[in-house]
Amino acid sequence: MSLPQRNLNPVEPRIVVRGGIPLIGEVAVSGSKNASLAILAGALLAAKGETILRGLPRIGDVGTMAQVLQYLGVSTCFEDGGTTLRLNASVLVTDETPADLVTRMRASFWTLGPLLARLGSARIAQPGGCNIGARPIDLHIKGLSALGADIDQGFGSLTATAPNRLKGATVYLDFASVGATMNIMMAAALADGETIVENAAQEPDIEDLGNFLNAMGADISGHGTGVLTVRGVRQLHGAEYTVSTDRMEAGTLGIAAGITGGDVFLRGANAAHMRPITLKMREAGMLIEESPEGIRCVARTGRPQATNITASPHPGFPTDMQQAFTAMLCLADGVSLVTDNVYESRFHYLTELAKMGAHSTVNGRTAVITGVKRLTGADVDASDLRAGAAMVTAGLAAQGQTRVFKTEHLDRGYERLNEKLASLGAEIWREDEFGRRLDTPIATPEKLVSCSHA
Ligand code: EPZ
Repeated sequence: MSLPQRNLNPVEPRIVVRGGIPLIGEVAVSGSKNASLAILAGALLAAKGETILRGLPRIGDVGTMAQVLQYLGVSTCFEDGGTTLRLNASVLVTDETPADLVTRMRASFWTLGPLLARLGSARIAQPGGCNIGARPIDLHIKGLSALGADIDQGFGSLTATAPNRLKGATVYLDFASVGATMNIMMAAALADGETIVENAAQEPDIEDLGNFLNAMGADISGHGTGVLTVRGVRQLHGAEYTVSTDRMEAGTLGIAAGITGGDVFLRGANAAHMRPITLKMREAGMLIEESPEGIRCVARTGRPQATNITASPHPGFPTDMQQAFTAMLCLADGVSLVTDNVYESRFHYLTELAKMGAHSTVNGRTAVITGVKRLTGADVDASDLRAGAAMVTAGLAAQGQTRVFKTEHLDRGYERLNEKLASLGAEIWREDEFGRRLDTPIATPEKLVSCSHA
């Protein structure tokens, strides 16, 4: 029986990569997707005054979060081509976050804490799992309940009420959940008294959110460490803030240099935020030079070195980087073990890499990667955002042409990835569903250039 082959010209948009070109040059790193989404949710807490956010990445998810805020009553106005957002959250018109946006983008669930703190109630769809894991919300509920909220779940949605003001409490997180830490921190910011979160997530995105909330008048300390302390205040006001650069985008661009035998300077990359990633890059044989302006990533001569990765909460190796890094390990000289202790099923992309000649086996949370000397181009799907990054990364090194389908995932989280890679010498372009080459850069999503005065 012949294997089902993708028809020669599927009617689907795609990214096309011709591999084998070493990437050389300098590229600017955009703002952090995950910090931006958290900070946009945090802006809901400002009962008065304007907030101005700068350095936002021009990606679909930022546009979607702006839509969520507009729905809730926030006036938003993008400037500077979509990298600056002025917003005013002094008037909120509902406590309900639209279900279709929550299911489309999980980060919308981070409106729960701020709405509950600001309005005394919040209604939101349960985000559910996705193809990387069950992604439960029990720790969000544990934390908000500890602060005195009544949580009612049913029919796929959740209602949280706090008829009296939330009260500070001590919360222990059984897992250092990023989202739960964020929701609890934002809710505690307006609670009566002190909240301590033990085993809090330490990701740089948490640090960014805490810094932004403090700029709004909150009283938070320990953000970015395992013990977070929030002393509640009565009211928060708008603030100006510039988000940090995206360590996952920077890591992906650095790996693109490593897998192609290149030499790339990542302007604006934050060395401290990227330390778990760059330390593993060094173990894979890359030369990493850190400076206040950014990070230089130089490939090892010959094949990358095999090394083992264990994805775990920060300062562990980030789970959002294991996919692109594993693509490089597929070409390493030796066998590598990749374990993901954050999500229980985040290796689906390996079946796509196998089409390009990668050798791997998966046993529960660990994948065994046996390096091969070469990958060959193929038609592959991006099953999610980070899997898409792995496909493009592998395509940059593969012999021949790779076509990556389901490109909408990539546009959610990487700003103009094609253009950035092409500026480093990659032969990469987009084709529309009819196979016509699209040389113009992907326009900034129209949601990112609009003003909406609720
Ligand atoms: C955030 O998701 C990020 N999303 C994810 O990035 C990232 O992978 C993740 O943090 C971990 O770093 C955004 O920032 C928008 P979690 P989040 O709560 O908050 C357990 C990307 O590609 N858990 O830390 O949903 C559970 O095992 C995305 O940019 C509970 O047990 O992550 C889960 O697998 C993907 N109970 C693990 O924590 C809970 O209530 C990680 O979840 C919550 C989480």
